[in-house]
Amino acid sequence: MKNNRVIVAGGAGYIGSHVCVDLINNGYDLLVIDDFSNSSPESLNRVREITQLTDQSRLGLLQADLASPADYQKIVDTIKLYKPAGAIHLAGLKAVGESVAEPGRYYRININATHTLIDGLDQADGRMIVFSSSATVYGDHNKSPVDETGRTGPTNPYGQTKFFIEQILTDTAISNPHWKICNLRYFNPVGADVSGLIGEDPNGIPNNLFPYIAQVAIGRREKLSVYGDDYPTPDGTGIRDYIHVCDLANGHVKALNFLEQDGNNGSHIFNLGTGVGVSVLDAVKAFEKASGKKVPYEIIQRREGDIAEIYADASQANKILGWQATRTMDDMCRDHWHWQSQNPNGYGDIKDDNKL
Ligand code: WQD
Repeated sequence: MKNNRVIVAGGAGYIGSHVCVDLINNGYDLLVIDDFSNSSPESLNRVREITQLTDQSRLGLLQADLASPADYQKIVDTIKLYKPAGAIHLAGLKAVGESVAEPGRYYRININATHTLIDGLDQADGRMIVFSSSATVYGDHNKSPVDETGRTGPTNPYGQTKFFIEQILTDTAISNPHWKICNLRYFNPVGADVSGLIGEDPNGIPNNLFPYIAQVAIGRREKLSVYGDDYPTPDGTGIRDYIHVCDLANGHVKALNFLEQDGNNGSHIFNLGTGVGVSVLDAVKAFEKASGKKVPYEIIQRREGDIAEIYADASQANKILGWQATRTMDDMCRDHWHWQSQNPNGYGDIKDDNKL
């Protein structure tokens, strides 16, 4: 009988809530560990609504801070009691700019959270982790499309924490052959579940392009600042590989299925991207088309640490995991707008004065 219990660390977040939906729809029982420092408990209510979950025991919650010494023992004891097959690890801070200003906080929180999870799973004999890594680990050292053999070298503390955690997990797997690890290098997650009930709800001023565009379109922000149009790209603006968050979520289910199979011990790396590069101005045009709203913008200077272009070669995930991104840029914009127009102030516990 397969053990279908999975810990989802950071399961109330933007990507986490979409991963929970896909896992539940694929028959898994979940225990979410989240401190709601950058997420809302309401997202889990919406997960229950989307999946029409009646058996509440299938989606448990431990509100705790994986990085806090005060919560350490409670978390480890809870994981031992739950006896999961493994965990999806999405818990951590993720704002690039903030990480440059507060490197110590990023190293402490992102890495301590990982150690707590490893200890809990080891003591529970659930030695399986699918980790939310990032294309940021590639830095600006490769010509796109980038595959998993690309040279790594993050250009900010956030990216360094992702790279260090990949190393910690890989060394853990070397120390004990029972461990099974998938490091998933996300490109740029955007969009929302087709229901419009869950989506991206950043605290304060959005760092990322899509949530900012969406807030301009809904009228919470006056205009978009485009960070430079003097890059060596066709229209001069930055090119990225935007991937629908539901395609990304499905990549986690496929990675879990892969680790559950006999013989896939050790540590594995997979890019999760579409392989299509899209510029900032093309993203603005696509969003205007999907929303029917104008998105005014102003070209300003480049953002420190940004790179001109990066998009994925995700053929490994296709070959080994049987995973493929299926949704287009139009799908991403349509679904992102559906979430934002249905939830102008996100989940409602907005922490800034740009409420509607
Ligand atoms: C995309 C493009 C900007 C905002 C980061 C992390 C990555 C992941 C996603 C966490 C760039 C331009 C942006 C704006 C703009 N994070 N831009 N005006 O920097 O590619 O990736 O976020 O999981 O790990 O590294 O994403 O959305 O910030 O920027 O012009 O207000 O949009 O210059 O070209 P990025 P982004």
